[in-house]
Amino acid sequence: MTLPLPLQAAAEARLATQSGDRRKESAALTAAYKAGGSSAAVDLGAYLATRMPATFAAVERVLAEVARLRPGFAPASLLDAGSGPGTASWACLQHWPGLQSVTFLDDHPAFLALAKDLARAGPPQLAAAAALRGRIEALPAGLEADLTVAAYALAELPVAAMAAAADRLWHASRQLLVLVEPGTPQGFARLRACRSRLVAAGAVPVAPCTHALDCPLEGGDWCHFSVRLPRLRAHMHAKAASVPFEDERFAYLVLARDGTPPAGGRVIAPPHRAKPGMSLRLCTQGSVEVRHIARRDASAYKRLRKCEWGDLVGAPDQQEDGQ
Ligand SMILES: C[S@@+](CC[C@H](N)C(=O)[O-])C[C@H]1O[C@@H](n2cnc3c(N)ncnc32)[C@H](O)[C@@H]1O
Repeated sequence: MTLPLPLQAAAEARLATQSGDRRKESAALTAAYKAGGSSAAVDLGAYLATRMPATFAAVERVLAEVARLRPGFAPASLLDAGSGPGTASWACLQHWPGLQSVTFLDDHPAFLALAKDLARAGPPQLAAAAALRGRIEALPAGLEADLTVAAYALAELPVAAMAAAADRLWHASRQLLVLVEPGTPQGFARLRACRSRLVAAGAVPVAPCTHALDCPLEGGDWCHFSVRLPRLRAHMHAKAASVPFEDERFAYLVLARDGTPPAGGRVIAPPHRAKPGMSLRLCTQGSVEVRHIARRDASAYKRLRKCEWGDLVGAPDQQEDGQ
């Protein structure tokens, strides 16, 4: 789950030209995001060193699930809304190298310039990407793409703009809409609100949901996942980190214009493994259940023993996917 080598090299080259106290800037960036602040005032170098590897890893994990669930999906055009440095576009091109056109949209000119700059190191479609300054909640009606992605962008919109943002992003998506947010209760709440609104408008959940019914999570519960990524040298330095990896928590939602939600249940918490067997917390057809799989139930245990948080497992009488 590491950055593509040309992106990593381009980011490192860019960082090498910048002076400043990376640790101080990174600490300021982390504090700003934790306080719910926007990217408007963040240091671009600090973003490249400390956030881009993690947002890339989360988006990549989500796209891998999309590619697995929709093997025939072959988008020709991509809209990367709230593109920042173009992170999600790089991940999309890894999965769908047949993409012909890419559009970066952001309301921050410095991020757009950075996205264009890094894209020069990428494949031709990325190097030729269009860069559009604009706001997600006011996307022009004519701006459409087979695949629209908004990664870690909704978090920066005022709550009052969320409904318009959801509607515009959906309108722009000819086939699929992918939303990725920080794996916090707030990130999940934003996605849940988009889900209710867009499912009512006819959108079909592709992942992580296995149904189009109301989200069954209650109280303070929130649906989120985790991806582990190695820390690059610049990242270790910027964060004064001592371990060479980090775990990025993310929430996501993929919606399609056609098809049906996948069958089965999504594992929405780390599996609990013990001597007598294992327990999986699953979101299934409109409800959350804990499924116990006894070790003595050899065939079910064998099918599910390697199952991980975030996997999709088959309905009880179906072949399990989590192997
Ligand atoms: C946290 S960064 C995420 C960047 C990139 N998608 C990624 O995953 O690394 C959020 C980006 O959204 C942009 N943004 C914030 N509010 C926006 C809005 N209303 N319309 C368009 N872009 C916005 C910011 O300028 C910033 O580039």
